Amino acid sequence: PRPGWSVDADVVVIGSGVAGLTVALRCAAAGARVAVVTKARLDAGSTRWAQGGIAAALGDGDTPEQHLDDTLVAGAGLCSDEAVRTLVTEGPDAVRRLIATGARFDTDAAGEILLTREGGHHRNRIAHAGGDATGAEISRALVEAVRDAGIRTIEHALVLDLLKDAEGRAAGVSLHVMGEGQHDGVGAVHAGAVVLATGGMGQVFSATTNPAVSTGDGVALALRAGAEVSDLEFVQFHPTVLWLGPDAEGQQPLVSEAVRGEGAHLVDAGGHRFMVGAHELAELAPRDIVAKGIMRRMREQGAEHMYLDARHFGADMWAKRFPTILAACRTHGIDPVTEPIPVAPAAHYASGGVRTDLHGRTTVPGLYACGEVACTGVHGANRLASNSLLEGLVFAERIAADIAPGPRPGDAVTPEEPAARLIAPEARLVIQRAMTQGAGVLRSRQSLERTAAELARIREEAGDKTVEPGTEAWETTNLLLVSQVLVAAALRREETRGCHWREDHPGRDDERWRRHLVVTLGADRT
Ligand code: SIN
Repeated sequence: PRPGWSVDADVVVIGSGVAGLTVALRCAAAGARVAVVTKARLDAGSTRWAQGGIAAALGDGDTPEQHLDDTLVAGAGLCSDEAVRTLVTEGPDAVRRLIATGARFDTDAAGEILLTREGGHHRNRIAHAGGDATGAEISRALVEAVRDAGIRTIEHALVLDLLKDAEGRAAGVSLHVMGEGQHDGVGAVHAGAVVLATGGMGQVFSATTNPAVSTGDGVALALRAGAEVSDLEFVQFHPTVLWLGPDAEGQQPLVSEAVRGEGAHLVDAGGHRFMVGAHELAELAPRDIVAKGIMRRMREQGAEHMYLDARHFGADMWAKRFPTILAACRTHGIDPVTEPIPVAPAAHYASGGVRTDLHGRTTVPGLYACGEVACTGVHGANRLASNSLLEGLVFAERIAADIAPGPRPGDAVTPEEPAARLIAPEARLVIQRAMTQGAGVLRSRQSLERTAAELARIREEAGDKTVEPGTEAWETTNLLLVSQVLVAAALRREETRGCHWREDHPGRDDERWRRHLVVTLGADRT
């Protein structure tokens, strides 16, 4: 469809989590005309759901070097040292600037930031807000700051495709705005810098901690625009997600790792602490190891879930430190003060994404990626807990510094045809179930091939059918594309590393596989 309306800006930011809003604020402060477009409301993305907190070497005796070591160990040989060093050294000041922007973290009586522990960290370095509502506070502060700064925002706007000029440089995006108002239907924002900050893709699975909006839109756009995408096979499954029954689907309540950081125990139905002795950090081992430990125990015992036991916190601590989790558990009829919480792993975080350099630049000139949609090299094969909000902050500031004042693009060339054939929304659940069954926490050649065949069947059956354009159809189109690329990468990587767990290749194979799988549509390379 041809754009029916257009807006001009210097920078268009797609997405409104910690990454997108920080880029927007810093670019606006440097004098750029910024437009933020977001698929739902400004606070609807994953940031607001983050519980545990934001990791940074802020505590006495902690250093960026120690944070670097923990991050590299979790990343299982695939982190970029340079990217991690950037993250951990620039992280503490970026958090201080976030505080200056208005975010209020939990402090002690002397006003010092309280720090807790999470999996894979050898120090207390997780700053939190509202007990377990860190993301909600960050989102509140950033949304307020963006409104105060008068930054133009377009909500309920689904990004369709990248617009380029005749030289192939990013020149803006096409959008579909659903609703009433100044902009409606298909339109465009023209801008010399396009920043993807669209978050993750947890919705490719049937059970995930991610909100419904996390449908991989940015990765799909980047693939269609010819940008490189990397490490998609590394999907992190959070070990402790509230178990709501075998058929639970969609967004599931998270039980933060900070609950283990404060001393909760993982136990089986017999009350045995199965992570003790399995790793030196027991329940606080890196996330992939805990998720695997839980899955193994579930298989051995034919159980559908394990338990997180934090009854010893007592009612007061539960109410003060973890009010969000307490409320979520009680909504589902579980009282963590008097009973252990049933938990199982669910899809949580895309460690891979659109490949960028240290300034957030993708391989398409003028196109940037920041936050979960990006693959900066910080996470490698498995993200360290609470490094993601930090990554969004640090690299957002770097992107803003890189954009200022960039070259103006030529006129956008309007494509005659949309870049993708739309897939009907009815396929969404079929895709999600196939992904969970065959490409979930535990994978094998057989399971992945089964899923790949199912995805190919969906694409084939879509054929030339006419599909009514709309958010759900575009989301389903994006889910199918990123699922197919993810499964192809998971099939190729014949080893177990980080959060990629191949039952038929149980060992880590550094000789063959200490490398990245980089994909562009129509071609890939390693
Ligand atoms: C959690 O609170 O356990 C989530 C933190 C994260 O995913 O980094």
